Amino acid sequence: MNSQKLASHVANLLVVDDTPDNLRLLSTMLSDKGYKVRGVINGEMALKAARSTPPDLILLDITMPQMNGYEVCQHLKADGRTSGIPVIFLSALDRVLDKVKAFAVGGVDYITKPFHLEEVLARVENQLTIQRLQKKMHEQNARLQESEAKERNKSQQLELALQQLQNAQAQLIQSEKMSSLGNVVAGVAHEINNPISFIKGNLSPVREYTEDLLRLVQLYTEDFPNPTAAIQEQLEAIDFAFLRNDLPKLIASMSIGADRIGEIVQSLRNFSRLDEAELKVVDIHEGIESTLMILQHRLKDEADQTIIKVVKEYDDLPKIECYAGQMNQVFMNVLTNAIEALQSPKRWANDVDYSRSIPTITICTKLLSDFQVGIYISDNGPGITQDIQQRILEPFFTTKTVGTGKGLGLSISYTIVVDDHGGQLRCFSIPDQGATFAIEIPIYHSTKRFFEENLGGL
Ligand SMILES: Nc1ncnc2c1ncn2[C@@H]1O[C@H](COP(=O)(O)OP(=O)(O)OP(=O)(O)O)[C@@H](O)[C@H]1O
Ligand SMILES: [Mg+2]
Repeated sequence: MNSQKLASHVANLLVVDDTPDNLRLLSTMLSDKGYKVRGVINGEMALKAARSTPPDLILLDITMPQMNGYEVCQHLKADGRTSGIPVIFLSALDRVLDKVKAFAVGGVDYITKPFHLEEVLARVENQLTIQRLQKKMHEQNARLQESEAKERNKSQQLELALQQLQNAQAQLIQSEKMSSLGNVVAGVAHEINNPISFIKGNLSPVREYTEDLLRLVQLYTEDFPNPTAAIQEQLEAIDFAFLRNDLPKLIASMSIGADRIGEIVQSLRNFSRLDEAELKVVDIHEGIESTLMILQHRLKDEADQTIIKVVKEYDDLPKIECYAGQMNQVFMNVLTNAIEALQSPKRWANDVDYSRSIPTITICTKLLSDFQVGIYISDNGPGITQDIQQRILEPFFTTKTVGTGKGLGLSISYTIVVDDHGGQLRCFSIPDQGATFAIEIPIYHSTKRFFEENLGGL
């Protein structure tokens, strides 16, 4: 069984020889064996024929006038359309040097004249088989690469889906956490608001009534300078002189306390803007202050002594168009992280320097341009190493013990700052010296849209 019959198509051969007798002999011999054979008598014609219908194999005579076989082969190899066609050289020359040159210019085999039928056929079939196998291998490789690419694509899609799921889950958990906090805060603020209004409302009549009563007692003492023994006894028992002096002070301090509770309630209400979904034009400093107020108990101890100092360096900022409740969540997350970093045992473990520095959070705000403000929250805690910094924005990444951190604060904050407000959230840290979180947001929401549409973000 001949290999040309094995092929899915009959092999197409081009024979190039300037000697008509040779050409005829070869053509007849190969045609008889079932090959499709074209014969040409010089290099020019060979190149033309090869380019118009590329054959499966070329039998190329070396010694030809004008363009010899080596040159023809070089032209064939230099042209992308013909470079893949195997070339078997035909020559009467049988010197080692000629064979070397034949291979050097790109030939795959060499047949010496005079031809022996069996040898020619064996060499032709050999090359055709090699070529077919190569083709098959290329096809298989291409198929393999294609299916590999498909698999890679599939796994990338899966990874993306997983990431989206994780993000969605993170959003859900956080919004549940924050909305329950928001609800509690809003509820407490609402419940306290009524009684505190009673107290504040009643304090000024109480002050007036007491002043009236004290004036009345004064009048009595003036009109009756010699009280009875019972009255005298009572005056001493209640230490009237002290009481008269102290009562107005007491009422004044109650009034200050009531005002303070009023401010706290206002702050709580401010913070619980959490549930407000619309864009609002707000004072960012108010948001930071109300968040600090909520975190107050973590900054001071039971005796009201400062555990963590808060330094504020506020710039003169315009009002910002943003989702106020969400921005408060960001301040809450970043400030909570700073507090937790300052309280971590690591902070006290490494360096003697710490014993000299007071745990401090610095909040700095800055008008960056007509369109942008920056809020920088720094702490002098243990800082964040480079490899951890790369992961802090991943949902569920935490270095805190189970139950302490969920690893959500920063990933949620990133979504709020970057996706919802078109801003930037970045972290800078020198390990052992502290960390700074930079939140930079546009002043107008329309700026966010402008940058998104024209420049692909701020
Ligand atoms: N100021 C900081 N100093 C040192 N490390 C920090 C600081 N802020 C964040 N990190 C690191 O980043 C990690 C991720 O913070 P993130 O707020 O996302 O999650 P978490 O605080 O661990 O948990 P959660 O906020 O859900 O309670 C933290 O576990 C911590 O390792
Ligand atoms: Mg956190």
